[in-house]
Amino acid sequence: MAIVAEHVNRVKASEVSVVSAKALELERQGRDIIRLSAGEPDFATPDHIKLACIKALCDNKTKYPPVIGLFELREAICAKLQRDNALEYSPSETIVSSGCKQVIYNAMTATLNPGDEVVLLAPYWMSYAGIVQLSRGTPVYMPTHQKEGFKPAAAALEEAITPKTKWVFLNSPGNPSGAVYGEEDLKALSDVFRRHPHVWILSDDIYEYLIYDGRKFINLLNVAPDLRSRFLLVNGLSKAYCMPGWRLGYAAGPEELIKAMFKVQSQSTSGATHFCQWAAVTALTGDHSFISAHNAHYQDRRDLVVSMVNAIPGLSCRPPEGAFYCFIGCAEYLGRKTPKGVVISTDENLVEYLLNEAGVATIPGTPFGMAPYIRVSFATSEPKIKAALERVGDAIRQLR
Ligand SMILES: Cc1ncc(COP(=O)(O)O)c(C=O)c1O
Repeated sequence: MAIVAEHVNRVKASEVSVVSAKALELERQGRDIIRLSAGEPDFATPDHIKLACIKALCDNKTKYPPVIGLFELREAICAKLQRDNALEYSPSETIVSSGCKQVIYNAMTATLNPGDEVVLLAPYWMSYAGIVQLSRGTPVYMPTHQKEGFKPAAAALEEAITPKTKWVFLNSPGNPSGAVYGEEDLKALSDVFRRHPHVWILSDDIYEYLIYDGRKFINLLNVAPDLRSRFLLVNGLSKAYCMPGWRLGYAAGPEELIKAMFKVQSQSTSGATHFCQWAAVTALTGDHSFISAHNAHYQDRRDLVVSMVNAIPGLSCRPPEGAFYCFIGCAEYLGRKTPKGVVISTDENLVEYLLNEAGVATIPGTPFGMAPYIRVSFATSEPKIKAALERVGDAIRQLR
């Protein structure tokens, strides 16, 4: 009898971790690799948050925390949702987990029956598909298009929904597309949701604060408060607060769902790390001025990436409106040969070529549900971005 379950066999390991492992191996061999692959800020966690963590440790906040999350943190989450999003939630409608990824995993484990469908708007964050499959659900892919700024069309959503649809995932600003949904986009989607009252909506707002050119973030509930009873808001501290290694995420939603997610968490990981939760209270309630300072850097870096990429013949990318990724079309290079005579048949081949020959780590579009594309992260310094994209340009020009 096979040791690995069939549904686990169908799931692929996250491509980011696969590329990172390859990059690490090349570095071990002495190669100089520039990583444009990571989905994490290059900025350090702000000092006031680190000091709050140290204080919590010194105050011996080292026992098991409440499984659902500290009451004080859930209060801070409600205050944040009120302050930044004009949304009213009470602590009993919230849960804290070890990262946004775990929040989503718990929600899917708690709600999916085998064969239930989850609509993912491609290109989507690759872990959505894996999490749905691990929870024995079926991902259904709904494409968006580069020429429409990767914004979802209401008609396409209508078509993707079936009687088996349990969830539709929204992610704005999006990874990897950088698309930010505006009021009109969200209103059009809301009309579709109203016509399908069996469908729940998961809104992954983790890039909420990373938004450029003066745009404003809005949540679907701001335009459609009537959908609140089948809406799960998911967010976390990894990106804007520069806390990816602290593993902190949270959700707000109807109590029945939160209780089911609590049950999953109570029988798996228990509560998120106790002293980190105290630091999260400080993060959510304290000084936020560092975020706009970081965003000014991200916006400059975005402009640098967009201008350098679009200057490379055959590559194209739109300026992302949020998050810190450029999603670059590379169709023109499929079918070409490397100087060693290897044919580039897929975006995965191109990513491998760029890593091996140019020493630049990127992520292929395929695992994000859209090919041929490559994703580069601009959460790294301008000199590194410049050097990396010069290398990419040189390597690409050698493809015949
Ligand atoms: C869209 C999206 N959601 C969730 C996550 C996971 O966040 P966390 O670090 O809180 O698990 C990521 C991380 O890359 C992401 O891109």
